[in-house]
Amino acid sequence: MKETKKLRIGLIGTGLMGRIHTNGYKRLGDFFPELEYRPVLQAACSRREDKITAFAEQWGYASVETDWRKMIARDDIDAIDICTPNNTHAEIAIAAAAAGKMILCEKPLSRTLQEGEDMVKAIEKSGVKNTVWYNYRRVPAVTLAKQVIDSGKLGKIFHYRANFLQDWTINPDLPQGGDALWRLDADAAGSGVTGDLLAHCIDTAMWLNGGIKDVSAMTETFIKERVHQESGKVQKVGIDDACLFHCHFENGSLGLFEATRYARGHKALYTFEINGEHASIRWDLHDLNRLEYFDHSDDSIVRGWRSIHVSDADQPYMDRWWIPGTCIGYEHSFIHQVADFFKSLETGEPCSPTFKDALETQKVCQAVLDSAAERRWKDTGVEWTEK
Ligand SMILES: NC(=O)c1ccc[n+]([C@@H]2O[C@H](COP(=O)([O-])OP(=O)(O)OC[C@H]3O[C@@H](n4cnc5c(N)ncnc54)[C@H](O)[C@@H]3O)[C@@H](O)[C@H]2O)c1
Repeated sequence: MKETKKLRIGLIGTGLMGRIHTNGYKRLGDFFPELEYRPVLQAACSRREDKITAFAEQWGYASVETDWRKMIARDDIDAIDICTPNNTHAEIAIAAAAAGKMILCEKPLSRTLQEGEDMVKAIEKSGVKNTVWYNYRRVPAVTLAKQVIDSGKLGKIFHYRANFLQDWTINPDLPQGGDALWRLDADAAGSGVTGDLLAHCIDTAMWLNGGIKDVSAMTETFIKERVHQESGKVQKVGIDDACLFHCHFENGSLGLFEATRYARGHKALYTFEINGEHASIRWDLHDLNRLEYFDHSDDSIVRGWRSIHVSDADQPYMDRWWIPGTCIGYEHSFIHQVADFFKSLETGEPCSPTFKDALETQKVCQAVLDSAAERRWKDTGVEWTEK
């Protein structure tokens, strides 16, 4: 059996992302056997003793903690994985960096730009390895989109359009705050759809099409008051329920973005389309194995949109999975990020997006929220250096 090095993981937060990251760690050795490092599920942390013990038993963690500070203080943990609500990211990451732990942090990096800047400073001071889970970059069809754009096939880019549509908060009786509903509480989430949904769209957009220079945005909070789960009182809702913005990219193209939790019938409809001088591409999370491609240089009698089923071994990541013509799913994008993070331990290269890269997305989110509040265009201050 191959000799491997161990990376001992301390997972904080055991909800949706805690489970999906753990699945990533568990699958790594089976599907990326050549990697030098293997994750060890050393400890899982959540606030309730009964729940965390059950989680650890089910998913195979060797030990549990109910206080993340104790987890960070342990010397038998190498990397901290932050899967908790947004209001905890900065405090946990800054403490983990000071303790010399590697950090894998869920998106959005932070609630505010200021928090994000403090996190980047902490990471840079300690020099620890880090990554932020903008997982959509590692959906093979999206990674292929990046390869197609970088090859120059689209030519000059004119338009970038993205939507992220949901419908789960239309009911005015839905409370805000507390377990499961922290996304409706501005203190916990920082913002509504801007930080939750548009942050994904912005990360993908800048990765594919370069920096966003300036934005003009509008937000709306359709339900103005909701009962808070913790206080039991009716309180003002501080998040944006919907957000629309348009923007200029540094390459001269125009961007149009929309996110909402009030699009009846849509659960998680993340789509983007890019129109270039020679070709266009589009992608849809609900059909995530496909990339649609239109090439104007095709013979005119057969010219039209092609639907590329991204499942061949020469397409990104697909040499790891099944046979051509079969599918993979949402969870695989996280397995790919785990693999890339572990690979980066061998190569010494950063595993993008790093905290520094994710801070650029925070700059756009902040500019979007400020633009909507002030009802005017805002420069983002983005310095996009990632290739
Ligand atoms: N990359 C993605 O596509 C994606 C998808 C969903 C969520 N997220 C992000 O992941 C993070 C978590 O979201 P989720 O959907 O998993 O939330 P969730 O509500 O399902 O789980 C949050 C977990 O954190 C725990 N927790 C809360 N406060 C804690 C504390 N102080 N100490 C220890 N544990 C604590 C809760 O008990 C729960 O187990 C958020 O930042 C969210 O934005 C990212």
